[in-house]
Amino acid sequence: MKIIHFFTITIMSLTTTINAQQKLNPEIEKKIDALMSKMTLEEKVGQMNQYNGFWDVTGPAPVGGTAEQKYENIKKGLVGSMLTVRGVAEVKAVQKIAVEQTRLGIPLIIGFDVIHGYKTLSPIPLAEAASWDMKAIEKSAETAASEAAASGINWTFGPMMDISKDARWGRVMEGAGEDPYLGGKVAAARVRGFQGDNTFKSPLRIAATAKHFAAYGFVESALEYNAAEISTNTLYNQVLPPFKSAVDAGLRSVMTSFNTVNGIPASGDQYLLRDVLKNKWGFSGFVISDWASIREMIPWGFSKDENAAAKSAVEAGTDMDMEGGIYFPYLIDLVKQGKVKQEYLDDAVRRILRVKYELGLFDDPYRFLNEKREKEVVGSKANREAVLDIAKKSIVLLKNEKSLLPLKKSGQKIAVLGSLAESKNSPLGSWRIAADNNTAVSVLEGLQQYKGNSLNYVKGLELTKVEPTFLTEVEYNTTDRSGFEAAKKAAREADVVVMVLGEHGFSSGEARSRTNIDLPGLQQEFLEEIYNVNSNIVLVLNNGRPLTIPWAAEHIPAILEAWHLGTETGNAVAQVLYGDYNPSGKLPMSFPRNVGQIPISYNHYSTGRFTNKDNNVFWSHYSDVDKTPLYPFGFGLSYTTFEYSNLRINKKSFTKGEKIIVSVDLKNTGKVKGKEVAQLYLHDEFSSVIKPVKELKGFELVELKPGESKSINFTLSDYEMGFYNSQYEFVIEPGTFKVMVGGSSDTILSQNIELF
Ligand code: GLC
Repeated sequence: MKIIHFFTITIMSLTTTINAQQKLNPEIEKKIDALMSKMTLEEKVGQMNQYNGFWDVTGPAPVGGTAEQKYENIKKGLVGSMLTVRGVAEVKAVQKIAVEQTRLGIPLIIGFDVIHGYKTLSPIPLAEAASWDMKAIEKSAETAASEAAASGINWTFGPMMDISKDARWGRVMEGAGEDPYLGGKVAAARVRGFQGDNTFKSPLRIAATAKHFAAYGFVESALEYNAAEISTNTLYNQVLPPFKSAVDAGLRSVMTSFNTVNGIPASGDQYLLRDVLKNKWGFSGFVISDWASIREMIPWGFSKDENAAAKSAVEAGTDMDMEGGIYFPYLIDLVKQGKVKQEYLDDAVRRILRVKYELGLFDDPYRFLNEKREKEVVGSKANREAVLDIAKKSIVLLKNEKSLLPLKKSGQKIAVLGSLAESKNSPLGSWRIAADNNTAVSVLEGLQQYKGNSLNYVKGLELTKVEPTFLTEVEYNTTDRSGFEAAKKAAREADVVVMVLGEHGFSSGEARSRTNIDLPGLQQEFLEEIYNVNSNIVLVLNNGRPLTIPWAAEHIPAILEAWHLGTETGNAVAQVLYGDYNPSGKLPMSFPRNVGQIPISYNHYSTGRFTNKDNNVFWSHYSDVDKTPLYPFGFGLSYTTFEYSNLRINKKSFTKGEKIIVSVDLKNTGKVKGKEVAQLYLHDEFSSVIKPVKELKGFELVELKPGESKSINFTLSDYEMGFYNSQYEFVIEPGTFKVMVGGSSDTILSQNIELF
């Protein structure tokens, strides 16, 4: 039972502005002054030029020239950074050219998409967000940073923090879901994990990048590289807050997004990049474009040619050009001809050099290039234990009836069905360029660690026609049912059937939008055929996005959301299935009943006719499906139960700056130890701009023994009580706020709190 109580509190009027200023190191600034005074115009433009490595591409074919031309340009000091080179040997090869063969010896900064691990993979970021465990998420990023840094990388293109309410979009797997408050906490945790204390004294920490700035999660129709059509209210109060949290955590880099906002491509958006990010927030790091996103302002119809694109982007505040072949060479003549002011160039170069100095690359350009450390760190036992820990915590129990879970540890005949059960590749998820294929512990291998039951694995259904890759479309099997009979026989003979179904790991990620988010291929048919033979099914979902599974939700007694959990998938899933870890995850994104409900999120608006109060058809609803989600944001079950009671607040009315303390008692009313994420939601009942029916403003992850109770306190400060108005001023308006606390964003109907 999820009990929600609510109180109302009264706030007096106040307005406040919250500005961050990242501190500069005067010693570094002096060094930058000295170096820049020696640099030629060409060498300055060179620092703003990033080339992809000479092999893997993570975007369209590189335009920066052939490998030979790239090497030549590095030698001429015309390259400031490389991406997707990796491994001490390969990085050393390019770094030696920059440091030992160029006139000024300015080291390269080496970037890489370390999205959820380097070689040892943690769960996809959306799964990690489901843990609501900021310490575990920070540890996961630290683990990823250690392997990347030991491999010569000093800068990651992560965390991605695009808020999104659209599961059709493949890149929801990279973010933290639909909520800005949770997204902000996760962003800050990941920045801390990657950057540590921001001194970079440790050679195992790397600079982080907040991406994609901004509003990429709102692309129209979930189509990649498309326009984002959103209001400033959404931009200011849902999209930007996680980025600001990352900047406030000491972030050193920001990546622009492919989309437009209000008709302006993000890489050329002066308001976002210079007015908000650099000036209002005081961001002192540097901005990199996305892959060729400066050049793509031409096909957008925003820049008429390369010169126009170069001018718009550098004036807007994009400091480095990723594989666009625009800044180099076009900026050189633009500055010579006086068409672009030198100050824009100098600001960009200063920022890039600043981060290189902060990373210690000038003190020792080879500090990240230690073969012995690489061998010790990459793939270490400690790293595998860290990713196993976060993998277990990322699993969400969606349904558990007939006491199917946890599985009994002996005397059971268990049939395991579905090719995903044996897959060692799909569970690694997308965005894992450095990892080796087929290095995950499969679900089957995890289950085989438990010897007390008889396991009978029958594939039954091959998910895809061929094994997909990061660069190929996923082709699902839609015709071959030849394995069904054998699977049905296995199910018939079993006490319990564990079916691993869902999406291949490469069905989500960049350029993987889908209009249909049902179980792809023949899986739904397969699931129903097995159900007709034996309904004692435990469905283990592997997916990189919310899926529409209404039939399963209605018929299948146990459903475990196991995302793509990375290298230790099988051990994490098995330990949860057998109850050695009691699932504690909560959904970071709503699961729709069908794709027609999208965009869907818990923090929706009330509309003028939210409920059918007049008992007629003229109210906000669908005629063919309930408008609530199948599974709501913040939802997740446990093998135990929890009860909330005694919600109380330290005062009834508050003035500026007074701390609001909300307390609630939580009890473990079940038979096993378990963790619960107590969530606090606020509803500002009347305000100058409409507010969502509820907004997450606090959460506490609590572990309780059976019968144990704990009083949980939430503190609400200005940050939680305020919002950004149309002038992008942070304001707190007087009025009544409803406070709600519970174990999910949904509520029990008897409270009559207006629901989704
Ligand atoms: C891709 C992605 C971006 C990534 C970059 C480098 O197009 O949009 O997230 O960091 O290119 O791989």
